[in-house]
Amino acid sequence: MTNKSVWSDSRFWQRSASWVTGFAAILLIWLTFDTSAQISMGTDSDLQNGVTKRVPGPTVINYKITYEMSTKRGHEVPVIGEKEKFFGRDDYSEEEAGELLHLGKLGSQAKNCMDCHTLLGNGGYYAPDLTKAWLDPAWGPEGSLQAMTGKNTKEEAMAEFLQHPSQYPTHARMMPNLGITAKEAKGLVAFLKHLSSIDTNGFPRNFGKIQGAIHGK
Ligand code: HEC
Repeated sequence: MTNKSVWSDSRFWQRSASWVTGFAAILLIWLTFDTSAQISMGTDSDLQNGVTKRVPGPTVINYKITYEMSTKRGHEVPVIGEKEKFFGRDDYSEEEAGELLHLGKLGSQAKNCMDCHTLLGNGGYYAPDLTKAWLDPAWGPEGSLQAMTGKNTKEEAMAEFLQHPSQYPTHARMMPNLGITAKEAKGLVAFLKHLSSIDTNGFPRNFGKIQGAIHGK
């Protein structure tokens, strides 16, 4: 009797390969559905009912967004709070908010912000990461950027900066004027506000600690 080892039996390898391929295919299909569900955008009623979505609906611009440390998850997470005025209003409908975000998204593509900035992990490292720019306290009531633009709200300060960035240089590198109109700036700021509300698993790493964006640092 020849004692043939299982390791040298080609049928064993054929079967293993089929099982591994089959298992991987099922896993990939499952992950695809799971990911689609995780990244699908929430709605206005989700926001009204306090349903947490990774990507909240456009009307998140009607709410205050903060960045809090989650001890359970070990990184900062966006927290959607009370209503907050955005360019004087906190009652944008789903349609109006969606239009503003769309305008901002088109603007960010037309002016190619990603040439210099990073958005959700894509883009350049020449200029600050914009994923959580809305949460940068420098734009807040006590912030240096808000003070520099002479505006009284975060959104107006950002919009003013975007229209005339070369008037407000803060770093060694200056953002060039890109011919952004007031309307485009409003859309871009809405786009940045919505972006900051997306749960990115703490990305960009250490943003909260570096910028002092989390409560009590
Ligand atoms: C040619 C490169 C370049 C392009 C294109 C560009 N930026 Fe900038 N941006 C910069 C630089 C450099 C800074 C830092 C300037 C400073 O702080 O004085 C900056 C700063 C900013 C800031 C302030 C960041 C902070 O600290 O919170 C915002 C917001 C911003 N840019 C938004 C945009 C948007 C939106 C677009 C696209 C419409 C855009 N930028 C396109 C180079 C660029």
